[in-house]
Amino acid sequence: VGIVGGAGFMGRLHSLAYGSVRAIYGDGLPRVERRRLADVRIGPAQVAAARYGWAEATDDWRDITRADDIDLVDIVTPNDAHAEIAIDAARHGKHVLCEKPLAGDAETAAAMAMAAAASGGVHQVGFVFRAWPAMALAKQYILEGRLGRALYFRGHFFHDYALDPMLPFSWRFRRDVAGAGALGDIGSHVLDLARYLMGDVERVLGRSMTFLGERPRPEGGVARVDVDDATDLLLEFTGGARGSVQVNWSAAGYKTDLGFEVWGDRGSVRFSWQQPNELLFYSCADEPDSRGYRTVILGPEHVRAEAFWPTPGLGLGYADAFAISVSDLLTAIRDRRPAAPGFADGLRVAEVIEAALASVRRRGWVDVARRDLGEASLDTR
Ligand SMILES: NC(=O)c1ccc[n+]([C@@H]2O[C@H](COP(=O)([O-])OP(=O)(O)OC[C@H]3O[C@@H](n4cnc5c(N)ncnc54)[C@H](O)[C@@H]3O)[C@@H](O)[C@H]2O)c1
Repeated sequence: VGIVGGAGFMGRLHSLAYGSVRAIYGDGLPRVERRRLADVRIGPAQVAAARYGWAEATDDWRDITRADDIDLVDIVTPNDAHAEIAIDAARHGKHVLCEKPLAGDAETAAAMAMAAAASGGVHQVGFVFRAWPAMALAKQYILEGRLGRALYFRGHFFHDYALDPMLPFSWRFRRDVAGAGALGDIGSHVLDLARYLMGDVERVLGRSMTFLGERPRPEGGVARVDVDDATDLLLEFTGGARGSVQVNWSAAGYKTDLGFEVWGDRGSVRFSWQQPNELLFYSCADEPDSRGYRTVILGPEHVRAEAFWPTPGLGLGYADAFAISVSDLLTAIRDRRPAAPGFADGLRVAEVIEAALASVRRRGWVDVARRDLGEASLDTR
């Protein structure tokens, strides 16, 4: 494996996953060697490589995408750099893992999906939350009909890290680099979960707010923020269900609260990352005098958690989500089948965001324009 952008936040999480995945899932998975870490900042790249177990550091990502000794290219750069690196990797026959959102706009995401499909390699996008056991259990309940007909998805991702007006300007506040603000950064995760649980989004109505129009630059002075701090969406799904999504990275008091509910005509599920090892389940089939949300504590009897600890209730954490995702990717590479979520899923989310941004501009409902991917449009869900 070679990783690009590995000196940053995600470089650390992905490195941990490569280090732990075979200890958790066993030697049935392909052997993983952390061969090379690239980052434009060579000093931090060398430090990160030594610390996270990579054999070498480089400041040129082509040393990874074009190297004979690399099979899998992992891209953890800011969003605007994903496409060039992923397409180059695909053209050189590599498997590609790319962080989310796949790209800053849907056209670019489509080009990436086409290139990845044409390469014949396995591709995965870093929507790690759908790999989480509670999401898999929610999906299982929906497929088993325990909620009856799933009528409504209510999702949110709240955070308050951007509330501080002194938080320095970074790539996340630039539309040309990030594509969108809270909507693309944290909202893309919720929209992926909405698709995972409910199917494709048909049309969307959106409203965005930017609370702080400028932020201090790390090098001095101020820079203009041209992305959303908060966005509210109403959704209509292809299957007829409805939904709403709220994202806000300036929501005082919230720390990584990704959450959702699915309301069906015979029951519902509810999840919040504040209690990541619990899924709440309500069933209309319960006796009326004892109906209420029950708390299902996730453990070895639940899909996606089974490979971890034999004792129920010990709990998994954020880093484990990456190990679960990487185990999917390595399994797909071993079995020569598509990984989920693949680049087509990354594109579908980019298309919903594209429609949401258009809706915010036009102040009205916008249909999601889904590109025809032909052979590449494998439904990886
Ligand atoms: N899946 C998740 O839960 C999750 C969480 C956080 C971030 N992300 C995504 O991961 C990506 C990286 O986010 P981050 O928080 O790690 O950012 P970061 O700013 O901490 O790290 C990015 C790194 O990429 C390097 N870099 C920038 N341009 C480069 C280039 N052209 N070539 C090589 N290196 C380059 C930077 O020097 C930096 O070290 C983003 O796409 C982000 O949306 C995903």
